[in-house]
Amino acid sequence: MKRKGFIFDLDGVIVDTAKYHFLAWKNLANSLGFDFTEIQNEQLKGVSRVESLKKILAWGETSVSEEKFQELMTLKNTEYLEFINKMDDSEILPDVPRVLDYLKDNNQGVSLGSASKNARIILEKVNILSKFEAIVDGNDVSKAKPDPEVFLNAATAINVKPEDCIVFEDSVAGVQAANAAHMISIGIGSQDVLHEADYIFNDFTEISTEFINKLINN
Ligand code: G6P
Ligand code: MG
Repeated sequence: MKRKGFIFDLDGVIVDTAKYHFLAWKNLANSLGFDFTEIQNEQLKGVSRVESLKKILAWGETSVSEEKFQELMTLKNTEYLEFINKMDDSEILPDVPRVLDYLKDNNQGVSLGSASKNARIILEKVNILSKFEAIVDGNDVSKAKPDPEVFLNAATAINVKPEDCIVFEDSVAGVQAANAAHMISIGIGSQDVLHEADYIFNDFTEISTEFINKLINN
C-alpha cells in the first residue's frame, strides 16, 4: 500500500464544535444589538477568530476601537471555552474513530489542519489527540483558509507531498484551501454548500473502507 496523507479539519469534522462557535458569536452579536443568520454563519466556518469578528461587525454595521475588538475576541473565546470544557468523547462525530483507526492500521499519514487556537485542548477533551501524527492549528499559521498554508504545513509535518494528501473539511473556505493546495478535497456536510469539493459526504458513516482504499491506491 502507498502512504498518503490524510488531513482532518477539526471543528465540524471531528467534533460538532461549529454549533458552539455559532452560539458564542451569536450571543456576542446580540449583546452588541444585532443578529446574524445560520446562512451567514457558513461564512465563518474555517475562518480565524480575528476574521470572523471582522465579518460579524461588518454585518452589524458596527465599528469598534482596537481595544474593544480585543475585548470582544476574549469574551467570545471565554464563552466558547465554557462549552468546550463540558465536552467528552461522546461528542466525537460518528465513525470518525473508525476511519482514523483504519488509516493508522494501514500506515497512512494522519494530521490535523485547523484554524482553531483551541485545537489541542479540544482533542484532549475528547481523548483523541494521540491518533494524530502531527497537529497544525491556528497557532502555527499566519494566513487563514482559504489560503492553503495550514494544509501545506500539515502535509510537511507528516512528510507527504501535497498532491498525495486528502483533506476532510466542513467549510467552504477549507475546501477552497485544500483545492488551492492541490490536494483531494472531501466535503463533510451538504452538497449545496460544499459543491467545490472533489467528493461530498453527509458524515463519516457514508465513507466506506473501499472508498478509503481507492484514495490510498490512486
Ligand atoms: C475553525 C472554525 C472557525 C473558528 C476558527 C478559529 O476554523 O471553523 O469557526 O473561528 O477555527 O477558532 P478558535 O478556536 O481559535 O477561535
Ligand atoms: Mg471546520
